[in-house]
Amino acid sequence: MTARIIGTGRAVPAEIITNDDLSRIVETNDEWISSRTGIRQRRIAKEETTAGLAAEAARKALEQSGKAPEEIQLVIVATCSSDYFFPNTACLVAKELGIRHAAGFDLSAACTGFLYAMNTAQAYMAAGMYENALIIGVETISKLVDWKDRSTCVLFGDGAGAAVLEAADTGFIGMVQHSDGEKADVLTCRTREMNNLLVSGDPALDYIKMEGQEVFKFAVKKVPECVEELLEKTGVSKEEIRYYILHQANSRIISSVAKRLKVEEDRFPMNVNLYGNTSAASIPILLDEMNRDGKLQKGDKLLLSGFGAGLTWGAALVEW
Ligand code: COA
Repeated sequence: MTARIIGTGRAVPAEIITNDDLSRIVETNDEWISSRTGIRQRRIAKEETTAGLAAEAARKALEQSGKAPEEIQLVIVATCSSDYFFPNTACLVAKELGIRHAAGFDLSAACTGFLYAMNTAQAYMAAGMYENALIIGVETISKLVDWKDRSTCVLFGDGAGAAVLEAADTGFIGMVQHSDGEKADVLTCRTREMNNLLVSGDPALDYIKMEGQEVFKFAVKKVPECVEELLEKTGVSKEEIRYYILHQANSRIISSVAKRLKVEEDRFPMNVNLYGNTSAASIPILLDEMNRDGKLQKGDKLLLSGFGAGLTWGAALVEW
């Protein structure tokens, strides 16, 4: 038994912030941002919350899947910017949508989170534990960004994407996932320091810190490696893949991966220009756009690949 995707959805905040808007708060400009990253604008949450965006994306995915909320057995939310330490976002989504009988938990694997969530859900189904799952990648990462740091604040955006999986004979073909804590320091966002009756730490929250070039080098090396690893493991050739749906961090990373794999770039769809890097939400937002734009045909093989803080990375191969 494996799992197939039977519905997708997405939700993004209403407010659009362009590169020109950012050039009014830090020393930057549209030319620098777009030529280095491909990003032209991003959505930034104002009224929207992590749970609210997640629920909206999930509602659309459920509607498309034809599943009623009370039928859902498992909810996994991938996020690193939840509204609360607890309860988890999965329970808040369940509350909002009227999902009453599901196991629900959040999963933290930064920008690889949605991929880890999908792999986890399908493993549960392969083991016969659940017949369906709602998986969501969501971030209001703008609240973790230091808006005085031009090297990071121009990169990120908020949003949510969701998918409903159902146990089936075909669909999910295979996956690989990895992490390497040796490079944990190159992309971080710490929580509060210890500040209790024994220790007086600085209770201020920290913001995202990144060594951009280290992350860039990691992505362009590890993503092609894990794609090759997955293709070898599943016996599927590069030519059989209709689309390579990569985490949308940076168009130069995606172009470079395409080049290293020797695959035409038009099989690497991109929307980073519109949303920036939405971390765990980027893959399901793009998947939903392609789905609703009618770009995916039954039987298409899609290779999804994510990478991010941890460092974490991985890939999954699914048949639409
Ligand atoms: N606008 C204008 N100048 C900027 C800037 C900005 N927003 N951010 C940095 N700069 C400046 C730097 O201060 C530096 O100036 P200096 O030469 O006077 O010191 C110069 O631009 C070059 O900085 P550098 O960091 O070397 O740029 P880069 O070519 O490596 O590009 C990134 C920076 C962040 C775009 C690039 O490293 C990258 O995309 N890395 C991957 C990041 C990523 O995707 N992270 C998420 C993964 S999930």
